[in-house]
Amino acid sequence: MPIMRAAFASRFDDADPLAALTVGEQPEPSLPDEGWVTLRVTASSLNHHDLWSLRGVGLRAEQLPMILGCDAVGIDPDGNEMVVYPVIATPGDPRGVSILSEHFPGTLAERVAVPRSNLLPLPAGLTALDAACLPTAWLTAWRMLTTKGRIDEAEAVLVQGAGGGVATAAIALATAMGKRVYATSRDAAKRERVAALGATAVEPGARLPERVDVVIETVGAATFDHSLKSAAVGARIVVCGATAGHEPKVNLRRIFAMQLEILGTSMGTPADLADLLAFCAERNVRPVVDSVVPFSRVADAFARLHSSEVFGKVVIDHTQ
Ligand SMILES: NC(=O)c1ccc[n+]([C@@H]2O[C@H](COP(=O)([O-])OP(=O)(O)OC[C@H]3O[C@@H](n4cnc5c(N)ncnc54)[C@H](OP(=O)(O)O)[C@@H]3O)[C@@H](O)[C@H]2O)c1
Repeated sequence: MPIMRAAFASRFDDADPLAALTVGEQPEPSLPDEGWVTLRVTASSLNHHDLWSLRGVGLRAEQLPMILGCDAVGIDPDGNEMVVYPVIATPGDPRGVSILSEHFPGTLAERVAVPRSNLLPLPAGLTALDAACLPTAWLTAWRMLTTKGRIDEAEAVLVQGAGGGVATAAIALATAMGKRVYATSRDAAKRERVAALGATAVEPGARLPERVDVVIETVGAATFDHSLKSAAVGARIVVCGATAGHEPKVNLRRIFAMQLEILGTSMGTPADLADLLAFCAERNVRPVVDSVVPFSRVADAFARLHSSEVFGKVVIDHTQ
């Protein structure tokens, strides 16, 4: 059976997810039907999702080994450089869809199989390494701000937990949209980097100079009370993750008295990704990149993601 190199979950380890990562050989992708193609991956990026998978969240033991990775740019069979939209129709999944690496093998490999309809052209002006940051974290942040947060009606935005991929995307995008952006981080060095992105950095829990119309929540229990307290009348608190706990204590009085909307969201549509690619290319917005790591050192990239130091996306260069 033809093989390729890949980074995959070989088992689950909730306490030490890095110990569950294997970098080695896996079978070449198989194509479920004629609508699928194989892409030669040139760039990918990591997401917290990959660490959740190594912990066993969202995967079952019988699905192992599972190639990780949701994001990719690569070369299609016709030689075109394409961006992968990672949400795949998945009958049998209660959501009706799954993200690459949940049911179908992921992008942290030499090659990945995807439906042809999930490929979008790489726009001029964006490199493969840039665009590989966009399909998961940036797409999620885009939808949180636009469709869910109705940012057109907003003047001020709060982003919690400024280091993560979604959070840095939300800061960069909301700033490019001309909004006043506040962002919290526990780390002084990250707060400096927030300021360099054009936002006002604040310590976790600190009172803001004004109440905000949109809150971007990826942290969860550790920040949710602050999100509620910082929200203006009618504000939208948009939640796409809960890295620091999914069962916050919630003050319901504040929700009804301030007429708040708490909105859950996951990823975005293909049209959202097309809009995001065009926005970044036309407005000269570039992803916030923590580091670019050659695929030959992909395990180091996972260690970096797992550290609390990361600021922006950890990108994998598959050409090295
Ligand atoms: N639903 C979707 O479609 C979707 C898509 C993408 C991501 N997600 C989810 O969104 C979340 C964010 O993912 P990500 O990859 O962008 O970033 P991440 O690596 O999960 O980090 C997010 C930030 O959370 C903060 N944080 C972590 N632990 C904390 C704690 N104990 N107390 C306070 N703050 C803490 C950190 O901020 P500081 O160090 O700056 O304080 C960190 O930078 C994840 O849970 C992910 O699964 C969901």
